[in-house]
Amino acid sequence: MTEDRQRLILAAREAATRAHAPYSRFAVGAALLMTDGSLITGANVENASYGLSLCAETVAIATASAAGRLRDVVSIGVIGGAMDAEGHASGTAPVSPCGRCRQILNEAAQLGGRDLMVHCGAAEGDAVASYRLSELLPQAFGPADLGIH
Ligand code: THU
Repeated sequence: MTEDRQRLILAAREAATRAHAPYSRFAVGAALLMTDGSLITGANVENASYGLSLCAETVAIATASAAGRLRDVVSIGVIGGAMDAEGHASGTAPVSPCGRCRQILNEAAQLGGRDLMVHCGAAEGDAVASYRLSELLPQAFGPADLGIH
């Protein structure tokens, strides 16, 4: 739905303002639409030990899980962009979830029995590319493979 998509992109932009990204200076925000219409957001959390950094999508999914709502995710909006001198994300190129985040999103998708819509937006401008998670991560390994439903 176009309305949901716009709402998710705006919430992801807002979330990106809380990115902790002093190393890459690339801020990412993610917003999950839940079954009850509420949103759960996350932003990337980098670490001085660079490889320990957490992506925005992973933080959002972990927040949903901590709230006992891993099965209730319907769709996600993601935005990202290089931070300008004031620390604001900039740029008009849509960002799509990295491979690890696709797998983490798949956990929520399979547990909830839904093929999540993934809306990839940019820090600025109107460009949004929408995909089903099953297109971004075909033939996914998931909880069902371990007998978990
Ligand atoms: N990043 C995300 O938050 N999500 C992605 O899907 C791709 C990358 C973050 C990780 C790192 O903090 C910064 O973007 C640059 O890679």
